[in-house]
Amino acid sequence: MLSAVKADITTLQVDAIVNAANNSLLGGGGVDGAIHRAAGPDLLNECRKLGGCATGDAKITKGCRLPAKYVIHTVGPVWHGGSRGEAELLASCYRRSLELASGAGVKSIAFPSISTGVYGYPVEQAAKIAVSTVREELQKYPGIEKVVFCCFSDRDRDVYEPLVAEEGK
Ligand code: AR6
Repeated sequence: MLSAVKADITTLQVDAIVNAANNSLLGGGGVDGAIHRAAGPDLLNECRKLGGCATGDAKITKGCRLPAKYVIHTVGPVWHGGSRGEAELLASCYRRSLELASGAGVKSIAFPSISTGVYGYPVEQAAKIAVSTVREELQKYPGIEKVVFCCFSDRDRDVYEPLVAEEGK
């Protein structure tokens, strides 16, 4: 049910991919830039209608030209050292994304490592929150059958893999 892979998230054949966006939802660098490039200009047109997104919240659009049917745009916290509610905000990104996914009938979903690029969240800490939050929330959503943690480097996959493998222990 949970897996960690190294891939470009825009290529994954899943019902929904999650975007690590910013509050404007109008695009940026990193995974956000890659998703907008691959999805084409209709994605930006849809995003313009959403009125931005609060940190820790998420919004859903169509996948446009992507193999994925939906993009769930979430806004992770900027890392300030850990004392500004970063962990709770990051967990909220995963919770809200799964809630929207379930509402849309999504059976398979892929997450990037939210906040661990430009936003500076240490990946070891972020991955623990990602995997534990997803595992807990999935109890509520039996319709979501598959969750992929999509890593962009071998190093990140090495961080996620043992956490994912703890499943069933
Ligand atoms: N597929 C999968 N993962 C990717 C891809 C990709 N194509 N490209 C990058 N990553 P980041 P953040 C990884 O910086 O830290 C944007 O400008 C990347 O290696 O994309 O949440 C937004 O507009 C890292 O592991 O997102 C915001 O302004 C992870 O995705 C800001 O960056 C997240 O890195 C958000 O920062």
